[in-house]
Amino acid sequence: MPQTTNMKKKTTYLLFTGTILYLLAFSSCYYDNLERLNPTSSCDTSGTITYAGAIKSIIDNNCTSCHSGGAPSGGISLDTYTAVKNVGLSGKLYNSVSWASGTSPMPKSAAKLDECSINKIKKWTTTSYPQ
Ligand code: HEC
Repeated sequence: MPQTTNMKKKTTYLLFTGTILYLLAFSSCYYDNLERLNPTSSCDTSGTITYAGAIKSIIDNNCTSCHSGGAPSGGISLDTYTAVKNVGLSGKLYNSVSWASGTSPMPKSAAKLDECSINKIKKWTTTSYPQ
């Protein structure tokens, strides 16, 4: 008889632990999928996108290593508000980061910018380039 009780305890214990582990695995999977279904949930482009608040850091982190100084790559300077705005006005700023055909894909020889940064650049170029 005590044998049977022990077995029962063991089985209950295993079932209990198994259920907890299963729930943990399932819930983390659930949130992974939620994140994948809503990739824009962490990207807020609802307010005004300004050069100082959003665009400058994207450009500084990905572009000015080549596009600044006395001899910028491709003759394109991206180190001031006016310079970046002028490239935007030419249509090449958004076209280059969205890898549109007919424009050199940027950043050159590197991965495409994240979707959020590209969306911010798009909004900035279509809302009169807030400073
Ligand atoms: C590793 C150096 C490098 C980086 C980083 C880089 N570029 Fe360029 N870029 C170039 C070169 C070189 C050219 C000249 C065209 C070519 O060789 O493809 C160019 C050309 C351009 C052009 C003109 C494209 C055309 O078709 O006329 C634009 C616009 C541009 N870059 C924007 C950017 C932006 C925006 C970033 C950052 C997201 C960036 N670049 C990052 C090297 C770079």
